[in-house]
Amino acid sequence: MTRRPWLVGVTGASGTPYAAAILRGLIDAGEDVDVMVSQAARLTLLDETGRGVRDRHWREDLSAWLDRDVSALRYWPATDIAAGPSSGSYRTKGMIIAPATTATVAAVATGVTHNLVQRAADVTLKERRTLVVVLRETPLRLSTLDNLRTLAAEGAVIMPATPAFYAGARDVAALVDFLAGRVLDLCDVDHDLYLRWAGTLGAARSDVEWEARVDQH
Ligand SMILES: Cc1cc2nc3c(=O)[nH]c(=O)nc-3n(C[C@H](O)[C@H](O)[C@H](O)COP(=O)(O)O)c2cc1C
Repeated sequence: MTRRPWLVGVTGASGTPYAAAILRGLIDAGEDVDVMVSQAARLTLLDETGRGVRDRHWREDLSAWLDRDVSALRYWPATDIAAGPSSGSYRTKGMIIAPATTATVAAVATGVTHNLVQRAADVTLKERRTLVVVLRETPLRLSTLDNLRTLAAEGAVIMPATPAFYAGARDVAALVDFLAGRVLDLCDVDHDLYLRWAGTLGAARSDVEWEARVDQH
């Protein structure tokens, strides 16, 4: 059977934990995954985790970062414009850019692409495949809003990195998992990353039991 991976492009916005949670979710679901990491993303990864991703040592580096067996993953250097995802004939299920910078959003929106992440996203759009863009920037200038509008008009799903609080997250990792879970929902990938809304106000609150205990004293 033809391998049909999810492409995951990690770009140099703050928010590398989102990338890690999404990649783990895809791996845990048994999905095929191709990873691309922009040059700037190496800096944010270093800044936020103290880890590096080296093209020649990507297996060790990704496995240490993700705490997963990455032997089934495919890794493409972001400078390799001749890589598989550069062509529409390379079969994929679609692409997730997480976190996405305003720079990559601009490049994809205009079609003036300079690296493999941008080219792969350009190809994903032209082939009418799923493209999820997890933008991380605030506030937003008008040109970014215009670029996001262009991408949305072409079928991309714009998924700002804004976790919600209704799922009862008790720590930052749970907020990250919430966002990752919503991204996987868009890709129709099964996961157990957050508690889904089931129609009852307060059902996920962790303080309800606590309040009941306090009332007894
Ligand atoms: C530590 C650090 C954090 C950054 N955070 C953001 C961010 O949250 N959003 C953003 O759009 N750019 C951010 N940038 C700037 C981008 O990395 C920069 O525009 C870069 O050229 C983007 O390249 P890329 O899109 O190919 O990864 C950050 C840069 C650094 C060094």
